[in-house]
Amino acid sequence: MKIISKNWNKMDPLKIDSYVKNGGYEALRKVIREMKREDVIAEIKLSGLRGRGGAGFPTGEKWELAAKTKSPENFFICNLDESEPGVYKDRTIAKKNPHQIIEGLLIGAYAIGAKHAYIYINGHYQKPAEILEIALNQAREKEFVGGGIMGSPVDVEIQIFQGAGAYICGEETALIDTIEGKRGEPRLKPPYPPVSGLFGKPTAVNNAETLANVPYIIRRGAKVFSQIGSSVSPGTKLFVLEGAVKNRGIFEAPTGTTIQELVFNSIYGGGVEKGKDLWFVQIGGASGRLVSPAKMDQPLVYGAGDCPLGCGSVLVVDKSADPKDLLFAWADFFHRESCGKCVPCREGTFRLWEIAKRLKNNDLQKIDRENIEEILWTLSNTSFCPLGSFASVAWTDAIKMFEKEIFR
Ligand SMILES: Cc1cc2nc3c(=O)[nH]c(=O)nc-3n(C[C@H](O)[C@H](O)[C@H](O)COP(=O)(O)O)c2cc1C
Ligand code: SF4
Repeated sequence: MKIISKNWNKMDPLKIDSYVKNGGYEALRKVIREMKREDVIAEIKLSGLRGRGGAGFPTGEKWELAAKTKSPENFFICNLDESEPGVYKDRTIAKKNPHQIIEGLLIGAYAIGAKHAYIYINGHYQKPAEILEIALNQAREKEFVGGGIMGSPVDVEIQIFQGAGAYICGEETALIDTIEGKRGEPRLKPPYPPVSGLFGKPTAVNNAETLANVPYIIRRGAKVFSQIGSSVSPGTKLFVLEGAVKNRGIFEAPTGTTIQELVFNSIYGGGVEKGKDLWFVQIGGASGRLVSPAKMDQPLVYGAGDCPLGCGSVLVVDKSADPKDLLFAWADFFHRESCGKCVPCREGTFRLWEIAKRLKNNDLQKIDRENIEEILWTLSNTSFCPLGSFASVAWTDAIKMFEKEIFR
């Protein structure tokens, strides 16, 4: 069952006609000609679609809130920042089928009444940005984007905005601040963007994969979509499998697929690489939880379970990996990406990184053991935004799971 990757490598991403021949922009035509804005929102709510950017928030509810907040104008933003290490699914959609994102974004903008929409893409992703720009120009020529879409009174202009490539700029409020020309730092929430977002106006922010599901939902109907995968968060999900697994790359699977199936089934990972012994898997990037082989029968869903799915990366780690290297890599990433706005994360990630360096060099001090606990607690409980608590997740799980190996 494929929704997002179905036509990858079958269509020419540089030619809009290739997308149109495969039913592209039919969903846009349908919403503009046959559906009121509130009908579109009702359909997305009925589908059960949840955001694929990490938190799994129900998409239709977000759109409803942005549409209902009274304001002379509002905005829609597609989040294609994708700075999580080991994840490359959003930029791959942009490269393989850019119009699917654009069509989803246009439908979202129509639903909330936004005349201006943005595709916010990480500044390091030049090729996907160029492909999106070409696709946008072609869509504009066909009157799918801009003033009077398909001869209707509906106007939606889309602008590509290239961020500077910081992890925090994937967080929706930091992202919004950078479009406003400010430094990329998160805002205090609430108010949430659907109430007060870009320039203080109601703004819906959705992940690129979330939006790429929208044309399918409109074309095939919410009920069809809601019956795919798990009822808790229906549909399919793009998973990025990396590490000590036979088949690496992006795999689309129904939500509710277990970690076990994803790693071992021959249509996905095909099992652990020959000669390697599975140690654990990490779900959801550097900020993800660690799962031991005994607990791999968990379904991958949003909104349930102990193991947040995040953006959908699955890193398979085998026993040849050195836990000290892993701890260092996580701490190194977060101390570089901390935006510096709040003390617990600015100082905490830095101290953890210093300790990780000593651990790696077998120079751990007695006091470090106590400090680790305190830093992890402080990051997790007192940081201003989720990035600080993300920095503590893998460390906390690693210490629980293999304390002896780390501190021997
Ligand atoms: C530190 C941090 C980084 C994030 N990075 C991304 C990102 O790269 N892409 C993304 O879609 N969401 C990211 N998010 C989540 C966004 O804030 C937001 O929830 C998401 O874009 C909403 O879209 P969705 O509902 O379609 O998932 C990040 C959140 C945090 C806290
Ligand atoms: S938790 Fe980290 S990333 Fe978030 S505001 Fe504080 S310093 Fe910035």
